[in-house]
Amino acid sequence: MSDTVSRRSALRLLGGAIAVATAATSGLTLPAHAAALDRQDPSAGPLVEGLAGKLTLDEKISLLHGATDPDSLGQAGYVPGVPRLGIPPLRLADGPAGVRVTRHATALPAPVLLASAFDPGLARRYGQVIGREGRALGQDVLLSPMVNLIRTPYGGRNFETFSEDPLLASDLVAAEIKGIQGEGLIATVKHFAMNNQEKDRMSIDVRVDERTMHEVELRGFAAAVAARTGAVMGAYNKVNGTFACENKTLLSDILRAQWGFEGWVMTDWFAAHSTVAAITAGLDMEMPGGTYFDAALKKAVQDGSVPEKYVDRAVRRILAVMHRFGLLDGKVPPRPGRDPKAGAAVALEIAKAGATLLRNEHHALPLTGAGARSIAVVGPTGSLPFVSGGGSAHVVPDHAGSPLDAIKSRAGQGAHVSYALGEDLFGKAIPAGALSPAFTTEGQGVGAGKTWTYDGTLTAEDADEWTFVIHYSGERPKVLLDGEDLFPVLPGYGEYFSGGLVSAAPDGLAVRRKALDLAKGAHKLQITAKGGDGGQLFRLRRITGATRAQDVAEAVQAARAAHSVVLFAYEDATEGLDRTTIALPGHQTRLIEAVTAANPRTTVVLNTSSSTSMPWLKRTAAVLQMYYPGQEGAAATAAVLFGDCDPGGRLTQSFAADDDHHQVAGDPRRYPGVDGTEEYSEGIHAGYRWYDAEGVRPLFPFGHGLSYTSFAYDDLRVHRHKHGLDVSFTVRNTGRRDGIDVAQVYVGPSPDLRLDQAVRVLGGYRRLFLRAGERRRITVRVENSTLSSWDVKRHGWVLGTGRRTVWVGASSRDLRLRTNTEVFA
Ligand code: BGC
Repeated sequence: MSDTVSRRSALRLLGGAIAVATAATSGLTLPAHAAALDRQDPSAGPLVEGLAGKLTLDEKISLLHGATDPDSLGQAGYVPGVPRLGIPPLRLADGPAGVRVTRHATALPAPVLLASAFDPGLARRYGQVIGREGRALGQDVLLSPMVNLIRTPYGGRNFETFSEDPLLASDLVAAEIKGIQGEGLIATVKHFAMNNQEKDRMSIDVRVDERTMHEVELRGFAAAVAARTGAVMGAYNKVNGTFACENKTLLSDILRAQWGFEGWVMTDWFAAHSTVAAITAGLDMEMPGGTYFDAALKKAVQDGSVPEKYVDRAVRRILAVMHRFGLLDGKVPPRPGRDPKAGAAVALEIAKAGATLLRNEHHALPLTGAGARSIAVVGPTGSLPFVSGGGSAHVVPDHAGSPLDAIKSRAGQGAHVSYALGEDLFGKAIPAGALSPAFTTEGQGVGAGKTWTYDGTLTAEDADEWTFVIHYSGERPKVLLDGEDLFPVLPGYGEYFSGGLVSAAPDGLAVRRKALDLAKGAHKLQITAKGGDGGQLFRLRRITGATRAQDVAEAVQAARAAHSVVLFAYEDATEGLDRTTIALPGHQTRLIEAVTAANPRTTVVLNTSSSTSMPWLKRTAAVLQMYYPGQEGAAATAAVLFGDCDPGGRLTQSFAADDDHHQVAGDPRRYPGVDGTEEYSEGIHAGYRWYDAEGVRPLFPFGHGLSYTSFAYDDLRVHRHKHGLDVSFTVRNTGRRDGIDVAQVYVGPSPDLRLDQAVRVLGGYRRLFLRAGERRRITVRVENSTLSSWDVKRHGWVLGTGRRTVWVGASSRDLRLRTNTEVFA
């Protein structure tokens, strides 16, 4: 696709020559040349060369693909070393919110919550916790951070990444990588590139023009390379017709030649599709096995279709990083012990720092006086801690408290805190009278090696919507209702990714659900349950319109009886699946409407993965976005609700009003793709830029988040120098409480560039804590890179010179100060 000039830009096509920045004037990296393809870390030196020279072809190939770990801790990947030459094995573990092995680890808040703090310093500490734990847990490589931008609100992994904004994502990924690698763990930035959705992720072909790619998605990866990430993980999808893991434009021209990456590139798990094309394009390692990079690679070398120097190149890249981390010469520091207390303290601090208060009518929060002494907690995730999302970001937490307990303990002895479920996730027993012959639906045990069968009748007293819920250990029982398999086992990764929190009952049994309209009368029910090796236990339950009404009625009663209500709403996301709507799942909208009607002093706490539509917003007193807050989430939520800390988070993505008004709405070619192809036709107008360009009002804009106090900005001055702009202004805490502000600087388009440009982009930001009444003069640097656009003719950055507008504000739509400044080369 060519770099198009849209109707929006026509007005902005003001005259003026394109000022092309040179490396000298702008400090930007211009493309180097193909010679850099064979680049390797020059510091790797004689040790790596010596080892590479001694390896046999088989040994070299053994370093280029995954294998089974004889001493696995349940991590995602393993590469055996070459003991003969003192090359140790590599253990590779996920992931973005903590170390994912079968042992306990600190479950940190989801990266999107970390990002909400707008604080690279915290990202570094987040990385340090994971870095230390990874090493303590026997790992060498971390499969994180993920820096793909949030493009579609439906993206199943939006919680695992940072933002829709490239600058914020770049700052955070660089800081986190430094934190991880500073502890001696090799970081892997992922998923390179354009892996912005889960729908059809293994096959979707993303069509994206060069400029959009560089200005939007790739900035974060470039920042990761500049921060010296040891490894890069290639994405599942195709980019402009070629799979990312065999895409020469991505793996060689951009990553190596333009950015000078010296580490190694591995595939995402099962993302390899070829031998010759992949290694020629610049792939170094196949994961988790060796379908293409084991015997097939050896054969390709032997028959001459892959020059052996490509194998050597990949081996050197891996060894060079291992050497950099001290893994080849015994200089690696001894593995530290875990420090769960320190991990927990950081998890708590970050969950509080990222807590984003979206609405707070009449100072409903923090809870004080009667509102703090008489509280009804409502919602399943009010009692069950919602720690993390599903898939490869799931961590086995050290512990996780329940929000209800945290609220009770913070409210103290004299307070009355009640609880109502409101929305049932796990079902209620099927009445014995409905089954003929009757059987124990609550805890049916099947002995090892035995098979239990049932062939009977289920009678529905009325036509109703039923959700059948099965809880089970071992092999999932087969349940046929009128011949229909209610809980079929999904093919491939489907099962692995089918849910986080709500796919396990509080006692750990696996859970699956099936909703259907059940006609009044008798239905044939057949069950086959197999005891397998260890025996099995299962429960068959149901949720009906009638049980649901009862749950809502109990919540309404609790809400009426209390002074204030804290209602926990959830949405359960996982990799491998996109959402189909941005509305809350299940019947939570109805629950919120009923509870807010009963008690308008209701705060909704959202444990959701990404943006959510809120048709119920105006009925609430407050809305607190906590995303997936990690193992300390309950304590952090209580601390914010009671005002022990200021909610320090701001939105790192725009929240759309509904499913019809956002960047990918209404155009299936944009999302989820048509006939396997998807077009990033929004161009550089990603995230808030799309809302600004189209004049659409989001429900909540990028950068939005309330404090318990208020801030004012004044006295804006801009100073141009060779690195960019220094934007100075005064921030004043005008309220009566101490609090946290995230002051944001936005920059308008350059009149000199004949390019379609954003109405404004985030140029910089500063998170700061100010005491009540305190004022502080701050300077935010807007780098030349942020003032530049990608020039497709020169395949490089061009500085946007001329008179540009600079704004200071509290969100992309709350701009309080404005001035113009001259940007010159
Ligand atoms: C995910 C990666 C992850 C890998 C290993 C894949 O399904 O896309 O992000 O690192 O699995 O678990």
